[in-house]
Amino acid sequence: MKIGDKNYQSIWLDESDPSVVKVIDQQKLPFFFETKELRSVDEVFSAIEDMTVRGAPLIGAAGAFGMYLATLEINSRTNTREHLSNAARYIISCRPTAVNLSWAVSYVMEKLNPNLSQKSLSATALNAALEICEKEKENCRQIGKHGLKLIEKISRKKNGEPVNILTHCNAGWLACIDYGTVTAPIYFAHDKGIPVHVWVDETRPRNQGAKLTTWELGQNSVPYTLIPDNTGGHLMQQKMVDIVIVGSDRTTRTGDVANKIGTYLKALAAFDNDIPFYSAVPSSSIDFSISNGVKEIIIEERDPEEVTHITGYADGKIQPVRICPEDTVAANYGFDITPARLITGLITEKGICRATEKDIKEMFSDKFK
Ligand code: MRU
Repeated sequence: MKIGDKNYQSIWLDESDPSVVKVIDQQKLPFFFETKELRSVDEVFSAIEDMTVRGAPLIGAAGAFGMYLATLEINSRTNTREHLSNAARYIISCRPTAVNLSWAVSYVMEKLNPNLSQKSLSATALNAALEICEKEKENCRQIGKHGLKLIEKISRKKNGEPVNILTHCNAGWLACIDYGTVTAPIYFAHDKGIPVHVWVDETRPRNQGAKLTTWELGQNSVPYTLIPDNTGGHLMQQKMVDIVIVGSDRTTRTGDVANKIGTYLKALAAFDNDIPFYSAVPSSSIDFSISNGVKEIIIEERDPEEVTHITGYADGKIQPVRICPEDTVAANYGFDITPARLITGLITEKGICRATEKDIKEMFSDKFK
């Protein structure tokens, strides 16, 4: 994606120093555009944990680069097998819900033969991490191509009126290395001259919609309106939403979708108002080993302070402000599960399918055991 006149991914290897992984610091956006250098497994862990990097495909890529950095820590006294499996376990433990993290770390691990030299392990890990980035970018491009057809179809019926798309959280290029899963179809439609308008849920408590999705769409001149999270139902009743498209952190083989907390409520409102509800899901976000999202997906619980405080920009700096009594007890569940029956379809890199085991199996037969 272009920021000013420079092309960026949300993660990349420093060209001048290959022991450094660079990321866009998402904690600072939209107030400051800053990059951060990650030089060790610990720094990768912290960046994922404090959400300097966030979004399912990006944390997967960061985890893969983390394994590359782990290979750089090997010296003649290292028990390589133990070191690599400890690093993998540690990185995977960082955030439990998005399957991309364990998928990407395991992908790199499978390629690493601990009997090989440090040099060759590093080269292999780096190639695998770069390969994951390229694959995710291509997945988003393909999701964009398939999702565009949905937007085109709606647009044809609207006689030049904008297609109103509601989205939750940030499933844009920041979350996905480039293009984004939800945003790729939107960017492609916008670039083709199809009028689109995006309702952006603010996405409490961390406000990824308010801070990141608005910023991304604005950078690309896509018309949008920021709304409080509770507004979607009203807009749907008033026929002001044509389609809902959300991302996914983990989708079961049966089509249940774990995504940012609040997604389920949007799906219920969409279902009640007969509005198409799609999840844009690269195969790296599908957990082909599980069938029941509510029972089998671990929902991350985060620091209650993210609920009792809101972080914003004042007096030239980013700072938290308490919004409730000092001793307030708060709960902070990061994700929820939207059952497949509420989902019109999944937009994947291979095409659009219904959220059923049968359709997902037809599309990804090689992944089913
Ligand atoms: O907690 P986050 O910000 O990492 O959660 C991200 C989301 O829920 C996104 O919508 C999801 O990762 C899909 S990203 C393509």
